[in-house]
Order: sequence, then C-alpha cells, then structure tokens
Amino acid sequence: MLIHTVMDRRSVFKLAIATAAAGWLGQAAWSQVRFASYPFSLGVASGSPSHDGVVLWTRLMGDLPPRALAVQWEVASDEHFTRVVQRGVQQAVPELAHSVHAEVRGLDADRWYFYRFIAGDAISPTGRTRTFPTPESAVDRLRLAYASCQRWEHGYFSAWRHMAEENLDVVLFLGDYIYEYPTSAKAVRVPTGGWVLTLEDYRARYALHRSEPELQAMHAACPWLVSWDDHEVQNDYAGLTPGSGGPPVADFAARRAAAYQAFYEHMPVRASALTRAVAGLGAGAEMRIYSQQRFGRLANLMLLDDRQYRDRQVCNPAGKTGSSNVDPANCPEWNDPARTLLGFAQEKWIDETLASGGATWTVFGQQTLFGQRDGRIGPGQLFWNDGWDGYSAARRRLTESLQAHRAANPVMLGGDVHENWVGHVKADYADPDSNAIGVEFCGTSITSRSSGNEKMAQRLAENPHFVFADAERRGYGVVEFTPRRLVTTLRVVDDVTKRDTRVETLSAFAVQAGRARIERI
Ligand SMILES: [Fe+2]
Repeated sequence: MLIHTVMDRRSVFKLAIATAAAGWLGQAAWSQVRFASYPFSLGVASGSPSHDGVVLWTRLMGDLPPRALAVQWEVASDEHFTRVVQRGVQQAVPELAHSVHAEVRGLDADRWYFYRFIAGDAISPTGRTRTFPTPESAVDRLRLAYASCQRWEHGYFSAWRHMAEENLDVVLFLGDYIYEYPTSAKAVRVPTGGWVLTLEDYRARYALHRSEPELQAMHAACPWLVSWDDHEVQNDYAGLTPGSGGPPVADFAARRAAAYQAFYEHMPVRASALTRAVAGLGAGAEMRIYSQQRFGRLANLMLLDDRQYRDRQVCNPAGKTGSSNVDPANCPEWNDPARTLLGFAQEKWIDETLASGGATWTVFGQQTLFGQRDGRIGPGQLFWNDGWDGYSAARRRLTESLQAHRAANPVMLGGDVHENWVGHVKADYADPDSNAIGVEFCGTSITSRSSGNEKMAQRLAENPHFVFADAERRGYGVVEFTPRRLVTTLRVVDDVTKRDTRVETLSAFAVQAGRARIERI
C-alpha cells in the first residue's frame, strides 16, 4: 500500500509540520507494534542546532504497518539517561517514510546532551549532540569539519570513522550525500536499484548510505548542518532545468520534488525547510535549506544552497545539457549580471545577514570552489561553467557585499570538485594585485574520484591566488576557530577501496584574525 503516491504534496507538507511539532500525537497515538526486526537500523542523527534546541532524527525500518507509529524521544544530560531533561512523542508516518523529526527547544545553551528514541520494545542507539552558545557569549573555540561527495560505489566510508574521533562541535555537509547513478566504471561495490528516479529510489539510496556503520557513528557523534548539491537530484541540474545522465524523465519538477522530499526524510533538518512554500514542491516551490547560525561571538555560520535557485549553465555546445568547459571569449552571456547562482532572494538574505553584524569569523558553508580557476595552461582561459566561474557576476556581487558590510574574516568552505584547494578570496580575480578579502578551503571528497596531480604545478601557477591543491587524496577538513586565529587541517585516508584504512594529515594552514593571509604550518 503506497499511500504517498496518492497524497498530494500539500498534505505531505502539513504532515511534516504536524509530526515535527513536539508532542504531536495525531490519531494513532500509542498504537504500538511488535517489530519483526530492529526498527532503528539506520541509526540516529541530530542537526540544525541553535542555542536552545536541535532537531533529532531517526527513521523506522523493516516490514512496518502502513499507518502512523508513535516514537518516543528522550534527551538527557548523561549517557545512561538517569537525568532526562526532556522527552516527547512524535508520529512516524508512512507518507514521510516513517521518519521522525523532533524539534527540541528549551535546552540550555552551549551544552552537550545525549538522546535516543523508543518505539514499542525497541530502543535506538544513543546519539550525542549539543546546543550552540548564545549569540552574545564569548567563546574560546569552535571545531568543525567540512565534507562532501560520498559516491557509494567509489569506496568505503572510513573517513567518517576517523572524523568521529576529531572531537568536533558540528559537521558541515556541503553536498552530494547520495549519487543518482546505477554504478560506475571500476566500482568498488555496486548499489542495488539502478538509476535513482522515483521517491522510492531516492529513499532506498539514502537508506543504503545510512546503513553504513561509519556514517551512522559520525551522525551520532555531533550535530550536522546539511546542504546539498546536484547529485541529491541529478548531475548538473540547475533550478528546474534537468542536468545530464540517465533515462529521460517527463516531469523534472516532480522528480526534483521526490528527491527533495527524500532528502527531508533522511536529514536532521527542520520541517519549516519543507513547508515554507505551501504551493507544493511538485510545482517547483522552494525547499528552504539555506540558513544562518551564530556560534557565540566567535563565528557566524552561513549555509548556502547554490543548486535550487540557479540559472542554467551558459554556452554549452549545441544539444549538450549539464556542464561544460567554456572559453569566456566565446560566450557573450558569461558576465551577464542578470544571471544568478544563489537566486536573488538568497543573495539579498546574505546581504541583510551581513548588514546585521557578525562575529569574529564569517564562515560560509557552500557547495563548490569559490575562487576563479582557469583550466587552460598558458595563454587564453577555460572555465567550468557549473561552478562560481560560470556565474562570475554573482560571485562579484557576493564579494562586494562582503566588502560593503566589512564582514569580519570571511572563510569560504566548499566541496564538489573532489580536490583540496586552499587559497585567497580576491576582491577581483581578474586582477592579481587586488586585495585578498578572505580565505577559501574547498574540500576533497569522502569517496568520489578525481583526476590526479599530474598537471597540478601548472594548474596552481595559472591560478596564483591558490596556495595549495591536491587532486589525489580523499578525506575531509577540520577547522578550529579561536578568537585569535583559525587552523585548518586537511585529513586524508590511505585507500577508500578498503574498509579499514588509516587517516593522516596532508597539510595544515593557519589564518590570523584580521589578516586574510594563509600560512602553511
Ligand atoms: Fe560530487
């Protein structure tokens, strides 16, 4: 019985709001079931932390009845749950894949907590989470990791196992949590299900990832702030324009709506993300995932969405969809100020957020390489039209906004390119003598492949605002912010084709507060 296929999207939104409200019982409260198998096999997660609350997530799995099931949650100050500070009941409804989103409020600021779920006679694994310090408070330290791109068939998730030992306050996930592909050349392992096209397909692909114990461990270790890139829907899609790859789909807006719903069902994000637009995702309405959160006076964290609202890529060869490498000399639209990567509403929101003042560090978690990267060695230029280079006027508007509001110590964190790139954010990338106005750390992938370092020395020489790059190693970055400086450590694993692999430091960098200059340490 597939109730969700006959429900209209508006009803799904209403359900999401209702089920996420703490204590909502609905009609089927306390309808208990005996589970034939352990229902918490996908683990637990927490996310979207504020100074007084956090979203707790789980999803019931197994041969479940097609009706709402009551799930209790508990938050405690100790891991044995002897001091429970809050508890409540949510409904896990089949229309939302029996997922649970409990939006807990009223917690103390700047505190670690433990949480778990109870359904019938089953108890979930215990997760650990934290609230952020209040925006006004002085804070000594913030440790976060940034990560992206975990193509399942390209390798094992050992990076997450190592990250779980990094003593982090929060994880920024910057996109490509799943990929929609059936498999790849030289696959390390082959996912079931073929091309990911329908709601059921997307749900199954998320469940496949969440079955990985290393990923579960990292979700249970601290809260996450989660954004997405293209592969949560389709390679290189742009707004409501399809990207490339796979069988043609008649209604792309419907495919995107299914993908967005499955994302919601599997991520510790607020129901308001799904429900902001009541007209319905299927008609192309917004799923608002960009957000801002202060970590005391130390950091202003802004999580961006560069995929949902963007204009399509320009100057692809005739008949080609998705992305291409483009010589801007042959592309009249290249610098068209009418084009946007973030959408004008999100641009305005950034501008207003920066205008309202900030913290010591202005940190952007966004999807891709921010700095200009010319791919043609020697005279002439060649840019990838899917990244910020393909939306240069939009990039200029963002750097101008940073300067106009004197944003303190801007730090761009990114992903998408499956390579580590470390560099300076320039006031004008076309002018090598222009000021550095911030720094950038674009991360490698958890597993997804890249091209290798063969021409790296020339690539770096061509783009001197970057001080370091590596296109061979997989892993993640850790940034430790203090009032005085930040230190970024690039952590890389030995070999993603093996489940059991070591981690090491590839390189580390420091930036002093007040000086947009990267020092290698
Ligand atoms: Fe990717």
